[in-house]
Amino acid sequence: DGLPRFRNFPPSDFTVPAEREAFPASIARLRAAMGQQVPLYINGQDVVTDDTLDSYNPANPAEVIGSVCQAGVAEVDAAVEAAREAYLSWRDVLPEERAGILLKAAAHLKANIHDMAALQVLEVGKQWDQAQADVGEAIDFLEYYAREMIRLGKPRRMGRAPGEMSHLFYQGKGVAAVIAPWNFPMAISVGMVSAAIVCGNPVVYKPAGASSCVGRAIVDMWKAAGLPNGVFNYCPGRGSVMGDHLVDHPDVAVIAFTGSMEVGLRIQERAAVVQPGQQQCKRVIAEMGGKNATIIDDDADLDEAVLGVLYSAFGFQGQKCSACSRVIVLDAIYDRFVGRLTRAAKSIRLGPSENPANYMGPVVDKGAQENVLRYVRIAEEEGRVLVKRNVSDDLKATGGCYVPLTIVENITKEHRIAQEEVFGPVLAVMRAKDMDEALDIANSTRFALTGAVYSRSPHNLERASREFRVGNLYLNKHSVGALERHAFGGFKMSGVGSKSGGPDYLLQFMDPRIVCENT
Ligand code: SER
Repeated sequence: DGLPRFRNFPPSDFTVPAEREAFPASIARLRAAMGQQVPLYINGQDVVTDDTLDSYNPANPAEVIGSVCQAGVAEVDAAVEAAREAYLSWRDVLPEERAGILLKAAAHLKANIHDMAALQVLEVGKQWDQAQADVGEAIDFLEYYAREMIRLGKPRRMGRAPGEMSHLFYQGKGVAAVIAPWNFPMAISVGMVSAAIVCGNPVVYKPAGASSCVGRAIVDMWKAAGLPNGVFNYCPGRGSVMGDHLVDHPDVAVIAFTGSMEVGLRIQERAAVVQPGQQQCKRVIAEMGGKNATIIDDDADLDEAVLGVLYSAFGFQGQKCSACSRVIVLDAIYDRFVGRLTRAAKSIRLGPSENPANYMGPVVDKGAQENVLRYVRIAEEEGRVLVKRNVSDDLKATGGCYVPLTIVENITKEHRIAQEEVFGPVLAVMRAKDMDEALDIANSTRFALTGAVYSRSPHNLERASREFRVGNLYLNKHSVGALERHAFGGFKMSGVGSKSGGPDYLLQFMDPRIVCENT
């Protein structure tokens, strides 16, 4: 196929002056032009609705990023209809041609990476480096799935029986509804959308409300790549108004969802009900929550472990399904580790993510703020507070969506704070007498997404590889930031076992066919 081997897009290097200076320049440029109405995009046309919802800067809610038109039932119907028509030709476009469009989309993101990243800083409060990494991950998904489709697009000869020629090949399943989260607003959206599209499935894309402007940037990406009309339809909308309608639609064949366990389970339940006129079984690909643990063995390298836990628990304010929300510490090292973690958590800077000196910024919106504050109260009731730090009173007075960085100890596996996903900077410290107990605690939730172990003992690392039962386990490494060579995703209540950015992912978006000829 002549393509260079897949490589992950490199992380940004802000020690290079040009990289560092590009960022504030992009923020200033965006700021000068934002606050506009953001239309839907259906069948290659902008569509304006009366109902709009403002997407705002969580560090300063008075700053509106965009006034986003909201799809209702009629717009969802129009988008599904456009996608259904587009399917009839898109499914037969050659796999290499579909892959070629993904590569052009990747080139567009590479050329605009600073603007794309700066938009995330403003719309969801992501730190510079992580915003840039998010766009880098979107580029990786495009480059990786393009190559995957080229690999899978070659018909495969089955068997060698004389007098017979059998081939296996794949076709897209039909219209895909993609329901995306706001926490990796470009990476996860582009990942799910590009997987569907490269496999031959036109998409109706519902971004999360809090990141709808980043979502709209994906329209520009596909336009630059030359995607035919109707293959990508941008349909932001209120879940309560159009979410069920999209999932229930009889012409939707695939639903790719990333978000909370509650919504994921609801989608699975509704998708199982056959609607009048429905012609196919719906496939649900769902990535849901986590309650991820990091185990600190008694011989762990604490320089590494403290930094790793800090980053996994408080990076992007703990708003990652992969975030560490339980740290399980062996008795023998408990006081040393917890003392150092506490001092480190007290030393980091808090404030708007626009200033790269700040390690932790606001959570995504007022709803998230309320939810996290509720869990901070639960944590305080259930455990003993080690750290509870907020931004300065001056910053609080700006009305930004800040929540305290919270660490509590004396948590045991029965506590709510040990079992429920918070999606915020709240860390439970749990004590274990030995590795047996640590593994038992680690496996004691209904989730199975990520985990980490810091240890110098080859025996304990090897044991954890087998017995710490999660989708992505990291040894002597923090538990966030999977790349498209790690293949990301969990099982149990964390998801259906699909692995984005991995070799099995695209198969879920296609139906295999066999043609067997008597020769
Ligand atoms: N892929 C992200 C991570 O690994 C989570 O969605 O942090």
